[in-house]
Amino acid sequence: MSLVILLVQFRVSILMSASATMAAIIADSQNCFIIILLCLFSLLCYYFIFKKPKNSRLVAYGCDLSPSPPSLPIIGHSHLLLSSLAHKSLQKLSSKYGPLLHLRIFNFPVVLVSSSSMAYEIFKAHDLNISSRDNPSIDDSILIGTSVFGSAPYGDYFKFMKKLLVTKLLGPQALERSRGIRASELERFHSNLLDKAMKKESVEIGKEATKIINNSLWRMSMGRSFSEKNGEAERIRGLVTELDGLTKKVLFATLLRKPLEKLGISLFKKEIMCVSNSFDEVLERVLAEHEQKLDEHQDRDMVDVLLAAYGDENAEHKISRNHIKAFFVELLFAGTDTSAQSIQWTMAEIISNPNIFERLREEIDSVVGKTRLIQETDLPKLPYLQAVVKEGLRLHPPLPLFVRTFQEGCKIGGFYVPEKTTLVGNAYVMMRDPNVWEDPEEFKPERFLPSSRLGQEDERREQVLKYIPFGSGRRGCPGSNLGYIFIETAVGLMVQCFDWRIKGDKVNMDEAGGLNLSMAHPLKCTLVPRS
Ligand code: HEM
Repeated sequence: MSLVILLVQFRVSILMSASATMAAIIADSQNCFIIILLCLFSLLCYYFIFKKPKNSRLVAYGCDLSPSPPSLPIIGHSHLLLSSLAHKSLQKLSSKYGPLLHLRIFNFPVVLVSSSSMAYEIFKAHDLNISSRDNPSIDDSILIGTSVFGSAPYGDYFKFMKKLLVTKLLGPQALERSRGIRASELERFHSNLLDKAMKKESVEIGKEATKIINNSLWRMSMGRSFSEKNGEAERIRGLVTELDGLTKKVLFATLLRKPLEKLGISLFKKEIMCVSNSFDEVLERVLAEHEQKLDEHQDRDMVDVLLAAYGDENAEHKISRNHIKAFFVELLFAGTDTSAQSIQWTMAEIISNPNIFERLREEIDSVVGKTRLIQETDLPKLPYLQAVVKEGLRLHPPLPLFVRTFQEGCKIGGFYVPEKTTLVGNAYVMMRDPNVWEDPEEFKPERFLPSSRLGQEDERREQVLKYIPFGSGRRGCPGSNLGYIFIETAVGLMVQCFDWRIKGDKVNMDEAGGLNLSMAHPLKCTLVPRS
C-alpha cells in the first residue's frame, strides 16, 4: 500500500514537476512573445515618432515645412482628420494656426489647405502635380482600388475614360441628347409627390431626390432603369446607401493607407467586398444584356462603347471588365448622393426662409406660368433659382473635403511640401471664410445674382477663387453641369407645385458625421398641392 502511495506520489511529483516545467516554458514563451511585441512596438515608435520625413529637399527649396499644430504621440493628427465632423475639427485648427498646415498621420505627411487664395495658388501653379489620388487598393474590389476611375493616376487610362465621360454623358451635347430621359423622370418625381400629398403621407425629401437621380443616371449611362415593382430599384438604392455608409471607412483606410500597408493590413476588407460583390452581380447582368445586343445597337451607349474597347485588342486603351463595372459604380455614387444631399439642404434652407421661397415661386410663375411643369430649358431664364442653388452648395457642399496627392515636392505659400504628401482641401471652410464672404453663415442667394458692379468675366474670375463645391482643376468634378440641372429642376418643381409643412417651427440643420455632408435629421415634410 505504502509502495503504491509512494509510486503515486512519485508520479504526482513527476507530473507536478513536468507541469511546472511546462508552466515555466509557457510563461517563458509568453514572456518571449511579450518581449517580441515590445520590441516591435519600440521599433514602430522609433519609426513613427523619431524618423522624420526626408528633408534634404528642404535645403534645396530654401524653406521650411508649413506650421504644424501640436499633435499626439505616435498618431500625430490622425484623430482630427478622422473625427466625425472632420471639416469642423479642421476648421477650428485652421482658424487657430493658419490656412496652410503641415499635419501627420503617424509619420506620413498631410497638407491641410483652408483658404481659397492658397487653394488658388495650388491649382494655378501645381494642378498637374496634384492630379492623382493615391487611394488604397483591395484586389478584385470594384469599389476601391486600381480599377476605380477617381483613384486612377492622371495618365492614359484616366484620359481615355474622361473623354468618353464627356462625349457620351456629361458634355453639353450629351446632356442635350439625354434631356428627354430627365424630363420623364421629373414627371415621375412630380406624380410621386402628388400621390403622397393626396394620401397625406409625409415625404422624406432626400429619399425622393435619390430616386429621381438614381433612375436618371442609370437610364442615361446604361440605357435601362430598374423596376420599382419587384424591389430591384430599391435594392440598387440600398447598395448606393451602403456604399455611402462605407465612405468614412474608405477615407479612414485612405488616410491610414501608408502605415497600414507597411503592416500588411487591409482595413474593412470584408465589408467593402460584401457591397462590391453585390454591385458586381447587378452590373454583370447589365453587361451581359448589352453583350447580347451589341451588334443590334445603332445608337451605342456608354456600356456598348466600353464593351467594344474591352473586346478590342487594338483599342486606344486596353480596359478590363472590372474597369467597366468600377466606372459605373463610381458614376452612380459620385452623382447620386452629392446631388440628393444638395436638394435636401437647399429645400431645408428655402423652407426656413419663407421670403426666399416666395421670391423663388414668383420668378418661376412669371417665367414658366401655372399650366405646365418647369423644365430644363427654362433654367437659363431663372437667375434667382440658380442663385438659390449655388448658395445651398456654398453653405452645404456635399463633399466638404477634397483629397489629392502631391506627386512631387514643391513650394507653396513660401513653405516646402514634400513629395507624396496628401493634400486635404477644406472647401467647407473656404466657402465660409469671413475674409472673402460677407455674412458667410447666412443664406443669401442674392450674392450670386449677376451684379452690375462687375463684368461677367471679372465675376467668373472672382468666383473661381472662392467658390469650389465641385473642386477644381484637371480632377475637378466633371458632373457639375448635370449636378446643377438635377438640383435646379427638382428644387424648382417642388417650389412651383407644392406648399411644404414641417413638424415644429424650425428645420433642424445639424450636420451628420461622415465624408458626405448630410443632414443629421433628414428633412421630413407634409406637402399640399398648390391650388
Ligand atoms: C451637387 C452635385 C455634385 C457635387 C457637389 C460634386 C462634387 C465633386 C467633388 C468635390 C469632386 C472632387 C473634385 C476634386 O478633387 O477637385 C467630384 C469628383 C467627381 N464627380 Fe462630382 N459632384 C457632383 C455631381 C456629380 C455628378 C452628377 C457626376 C456624374 C454623374 C459626378 C461625377 C464625378 C466624378 C466621376 C468625379 C471624379 C473626377 C476625377 O477623379 O477626375 N459628380 N465631384
